[in-house]
Amino acid sequence: MYSKEQLIEKLDLQKHPEGGYFKETYRSEISLSGSSLPSEFDSARSASTCIYFMLTSDEFSAFHKVNQDEAWHFYMGERILLHMISPEGEYSKVNIGSDFSSGETPQFVVPAQHWFAAEVNNENSFALVGCTVAPGFDFKDFELAERKQLQKKFPKHSELIKKLTR
Ligand code: GUN
Repeated sequence: MYSKEQLIEKLDLQKHPEGGYFKETYRSEISLSGSSLPSEFDSARSASTCIYFMLTSDEFSAFHKVNQDEAWHFYMGERILLHMISPEGEYSKVNIGSDFSSGETPQFVVPAQHWFAAEVNNENSFALVGCTVAPGFDFKDFELAERKQLQKKFPKHSELIKKLTR
């Protein structure tokens, strides 16, 4: 098993603003014009992108949302608990991992516009996953939650939002 530090070095991972570490591994050379995309995309985007994403148990991926569906693929390590709040305020969660008999799933798609956050609950461990989006990722489509604003929007999830925002 690799350590967190070894993976950061071997996979050339960088700190992600939401928490965790990432590296973009693929960016399609196909460009989709702004006019061919739904109105939330303000300009052209690559057709698709993929990243490695590593999350450790000593931090969390803070609540954020993106304009496109995001497919998560489990590679190695401990399971990730992914929390979601739909635009209507409905909470759901999923365990992404490889222990299928315990209900973990190796692949999961977070729907566009859902607020989501993630954590690795087993101590001293990490998870390595892949995240794929289409159209491709652009920080213009990414919004990191502001704690007070999100709590105001979804008061019944206030405690969870407090735990998983910075
Ligand atoms: N590229 C940079 N950050 C991200 C992210 O959070 N998700 C995806 N899919 N690609 C990214």
